[in-house]
Amino acid sequence: MGAMIELVDVVKRYGDVVACNRLNLAVDQGELVTLLGASGCGKTTALRCITGSLRPDGGRIIIDGRDVTDVPTHKRNIGVVFQNFALFPHLTVVDNVGYPLRVRGVRSAERRERAIEALRLVRLDGLGGRFPRELSGGQQQRVGLARAIVYEPTVILFDEPLSNLDAKLRLEMREEIASLKDRLGFTSIYVTHDQEEALSLSDRIAVMKDGVVHQVGRPTEIYGAPKTAFVAEFLGNPNRLTGVCVERTEDQVVVEADGQRIAAIAESDTPKVGERAVVYVRPESVRIRNGTASADESTLRATVVRSAFLGDSTEYILSLSDSVSWHLRLEHTTRLTVGEAVDLSALRAGCRAFALGESADDGTHRGASAEA
Ligand SMILES: Nc1ncnc2c1ncn2[C@@H]1O[C@H](COP(=O)(O)OP(=O)(O)OP(=O)(O)O)[C@@H](O)[C@H]1O
Ligand SMILES: [Mg+2]
Repeated sequence: MGAMIELVDVVKRYGDVVACNRLNLAVDQGELVTLLGASGCGKTTALRCITGSLRPDGGRIIIDGRDVTDVPTHKRNIGVVFQNFALFPHLTVVDNVGYPLRVRGVRSAERRERAIEALRLVRLDGLGGRFPRELSGGQQQRVGLARAIVYEPTVILFDEPLSNLDAKLRLEMREEIASLKDRLGFTSIYVTHDQEEALSLSDRIAVMKDGVVHQVGRPTEIYGAPKTAFVAEFLGNPNRLTGVCVERTEDQVVVEADGQRIAAIAESDTPKVGERAVVYVRPESVRIRNGTASADESTLRATVVRSAFLGDSTEYILSLSDSVSWHLRLEHTTRLTVGEAVDLSALRAGCRAFALGESADDGTHRGASAEA
């Protein structure tokens, strides 16, 4: 079975800005792939090339085996859910949901019937007669969802659909999208800034930077085995230590910074002895050491700088040196006081090292070295 959505070397420029720079991505049938990346990296541009509202300057868009690069939007059979809901204020909910059917020439009675069914699917039965302004934000986005599924598109694109909703509604709608996808089996590309949303909802995540995809993989792969410093830095809010590689064996590298040593798993960009290196440490791989550290842990000295009560846990800011602070979440069974000196244990499996070569090609590297 081939890919349902394929972007092949897609290029899109706005004047001097290259928003998509030979973007490649393949999404399988029934899959949900998230585009994750900083503001301005080209996510919306990529989606608009897929819907057809933008014509790429180069490359091809293939949907279900058909090259649609030159096919007009309304003939592409793609549903879209937008961040700002994008409902027509002067149309009732039923007419909003039925709108894509109208564009496709479906007759009024059938439009209504199918719109009501779509509203039932998103659990808005009975609200069809209202206007958008008479709905809450969450309900408006459900209308947006109903409008996207009403003509049973094979592909649905989501552009930050939940970012205008409050935290509780976001969780609820996330659940709703996952369950709709299970029931209807559509293929989707989903854009979000929210890592947790991306990790929880996606079959795979594509991490984007400057108009290209850096790494694509299952959430556990992207999170646990980032291939570049950029990906490591972007996901999971890791702690960071920048120093010099002092030891390298088959299964680990040791990096020394400010008199502290940390062992990390070495991967593709493995630093050599004597080379500058950055180590990214997953916060959940760090604990307060009590007793002796095991062979697969490094011990680091730190001082508690600040604490923030988060309800179910407390987050501590710990200083490892003048220029390096880490954050650590602890359940209330462990309490630290500001000013207290602690020994931290960092599990090697949660630490990734990357070389900070001369060829460092992005701000991530410069930022990391500036911190050392
Ligand atoms: N119509 C336009 N004219 C000129 N430049 C544009 C236009 N639309 C987008 N850009 C630029 O193209 C780049 C990519 O924009 P895009 O909207 O695709 O980013 P994005 O990843 O969706 O960002 P965000 O997360 O902020 O929505 C940005 O540098 C942006 O300023
Ligand atoms: Mg965008």
